[in-house]
Amino acid sequence: MNIIKIDTTKRKNTVSRNIYGHFIEHLGRCVYDGIWVGENSRIEHIHGIRKEVVDALKKVKPAVIRWPGGCFADEYHWKDGIGPKEKRKKIVNTHWGGVVENNHFGTHEFMEFCALVGAAPYICGNVGSGTVREMQEWVEYLNGPAESEMGALRMANGRKEPFGLYYFGVGNENWGCGGRMRAEYYADLYKQYQHYVKKYGNYEIFKIACGPRNDDYCWTEVLMREASKFMDGLSLHYYTRLFSSGENKTERRGNAVGFDENDYFMILKKAYYTNEIIQGHKKIMDKYDPEKRVALIVDEWGTWYDVEKGTHPDFLFQQNTIRDALVAGISLNIFNNHSDRVRMANIAQTVNVLQALLLTKDEIVLRTPTYHVFDMYQYHQDATLIETSYISDKYEYNREALDAMSVSASINDQNRVHVTITNIDPRKALETTIELQDGSIKEVTATILKGDTMDAHNTFENRGHIVPKTYKEYSIKRKNEIAFVLPPLSVLAISIQR
Ligand code: AHR
Repeated sequence: MNIIKIDTTKRKNTVSRNIYGHFIEHLGRCVYDGIWVGENSRIEHIHGIRKEVVDALKKVKPAVIRWPGGCFADEYHWKDGIGPKEKRKKIVNTHWGGVVENNHFGTHEFMEFCALVGAAPYICGNVGSGTVREMQEWVEYLNGPAESEMGALRMANGRKEPFGLYYFGVGNENWGCGGRMRAEYYADLYKQYQHYVKKYGNYEIFKIACGPRNDDYCWTEVLMREASKFMDGLSLHYYTRLFSSGENKTERRGNAVGFDENDYFMILKKAYYTNEIIQGHKKIMDKYDPEKRVALIVDEWGTWYDVEKGTHPDFLFQQNTIRDALVAGISLNIFNNHSDRVRMANIAQTVNVLQALLLTKDEIVLRTPTYHVFDMYQYHQDATLIETSYISDKYEYNREALDAMSVSASINDQNRVHVTITNIDPRKALETTIELQDGSIKEVTATILKGDTMDAHNTFENRGHIVPKTYKEYSIKRKNEIAFVLPPLSVLAISIQR
């Protein structure tokens, strides 16, 4: 028997809407083709931006979008991406496949994309191969008055008013593709670069320093010790994959579909490991910043498998199954439960790359199981986290065991409680009771996403195989208990009016 206890008198912090954030990079078909189809495309678009992608994203309320990378960010020179398109410089995207980048999607196009989908923009600046001056000028271009040199350039390119950018990252993965730096060296550079990321008028900047990869607690220690005073956020990158680079010589990543139970179990185990990693980094952050002023920004997360057969090896295009939906459900529950410190997370990547919400083929846009999880979980945005405890059955495989269930719960200002639950067991349904410790239940609605096999997914031929359905197989007992059976391979979102 599985029991979830929810005590609405024990209210915690706000679940930042930014936990439901996204990441797009000039990588493969994410930006080009996925989002940007160009002004002359036969595909329906708004000033070159694919309309169906805009419509789909708007529905899940993407709170914030990070751009232009990723590894691309530390090779990107923003002035290449402004002004008349025919005059924009063509460069080689050396990190992602050596393809020619025409810079047609630049600062203005990104800002328009964010405005269209209703997301706050988060720009990642170039530390690895860019100068302090270049970064300073980009911020002036974005937020400076029209009378300033960069503001005048912005105006010449059609935008008089400052964009009012708030979230700015000072480099990406500077321990790796962003310059292969030591933590001490980057901490010094961070302090120098961020010093010139200025406030123009009333436009404050929320500064995000490059943080650790996975469980590199040393990086966090050094950054917090040396530079926490100068940052508002520290990033964390954690990908759910069978092996992290260097962990295993073969670095087998496995298939996105058609995998066996071993790979299924291992990926979910790695998804749960997110909790341990966040706890580890939080402990260090608490030591230097007990007031929790500096946010932990998980600005790259998601699954990473071998690319689909026949696709470019550097384009990172992968299918997306109910397993990915479960990884998303578990990860978002973990972020919610740590939202005292985790105040932004950005799934990698929104369209056509890694754990994408949307896949495109010509004019067709497919909503993946991960998309549907974002849709079902959106009600946690800006709600108040509630203390939850639960007893879960175990999913056992090969003499290892994981909790079959993961849970998070929040309450909004209309007194509505939202509970999101995952069941990773591929065979066993979970008999479950939710006990509301305080108050009685007036009304319940629920939505379920479930798979019939571990790799159930949508295809361009059948886009409706895995879609959320209304769920009615629950009963209300003693006015404050809900009893139901959670099917195998499922994500459930319950909304309770108290
Ligand atoms: O998301 C793909 C890549 O993963 C990003 O460019 C990089 O930051 C990370 O290693």
